[in-house]
Amino acid sequence: MHNVHKAVFPVGGLGTRFLPATKASPKEMLPVVDKPLIQYAVEEAIAAGMTELIFVTGRGKRAIEDHFDKSYEIEAELLARGKQDLLELVRGIKPSHVDCFYVRQAEPRGLGHAVLCAQKLIANEAFAVILADDLIDGRPPVLAQMIGVFDHYHCSVIGIDEIEAQDTRSHGVIEGKAWDERIFRVSGVIEKPAPAQAPSNLGVVGRYVLTPGIFEHLRKTRPDACGEIQLTDAIQSLLTDEQVLAYRYRGQRFDCGSKIGYLKATVEFALRHPEVKAGFAAYLDEKRAADHPEMLV
Ligand code: G1P
Repeated sequence: MHNVHKAVFPVGGLGTRFLPATKASPKEMLPVVDKPLIQYAVEEAIAAGMTELIFVTGRGKRAIEDHFDKSYEIEAELLARGKQDLLELVRGIKPSHVDCFYVRQAEPRGLGHAVLCAQKLIANEAFAVILADDLIDGRPPVLAQMIGVFDHYHCSVIGIDEIEAQDTRSHGVIEGKAWDERIFRVSGVIEKPAPAQAPSNLGVVGRYVLTPGIFEHLRKTRPDACGEIQLTDAIQSLLTDEQVLAYRYRGQRFDCGSKIGYLKATVEFALRHPEVKAGFAAYLDEKRAADHPEMLV
């Protein structure tokens, strides 16, 4: 049995890229087909053995807390109507062996600050961080793959993926030496460099397994030019004390922090969804035929 049980979900961000949808509801509650982004993230954490889920929330994020609470009204209604399958679906959102904790990030001061807000609940243990924006379809789920690496090497592990040169400005980028096809020893990490300054094409994705040593470095990290404390900067500082590995996961990532990534996720997950896949595939075929009649033979 591994000894990582706690996962941090920084969910305090404003979600301005999805306005007006996110004016009064959290971006993490945007559904991909019929499940909110945050639930995919939570399911990934639970599949990797996490039993304590720590949400770092902020203003306007109450819907996330409600989502993982028991809903007496809905359960009573479904019971009365004999809708057993939906009742199980609703009850299964938070399994009974899992506990949720909520910490407020009173000001939006960056990802590093959000993780620091969870320190008292984590104390002196290794923990996971999952950014719900990055929806990753991995088998086994990506966090479980990374916990496997942590169990073997007992040091922090950052999820990475190959990125295009034009995407360095939206990612942390690592410098490292490949140990094998998937594992890299990190020698540096830079937050959102210009393509010319990027040390590699390996971008950080929203999955981390961190040792508690990170907290000391987060406390020391100065805010960047936008006033945000970056987790990437604290990981760079952690390198002076500890080995850090990067892991190129097996799976397909959808950047649901961008509209195009979110739409791609919706199409992919709809085409796999037992209830709608046949109808949706038929619709896409009809649409393609109507838009490109010349392709019909
Ligand atoms: C954050 C991190 C960045 C990482 C990215 C992955 O940025 O700061 O290093 O590459 O998540 O999604 P954000 O997307 O929150 O701006």
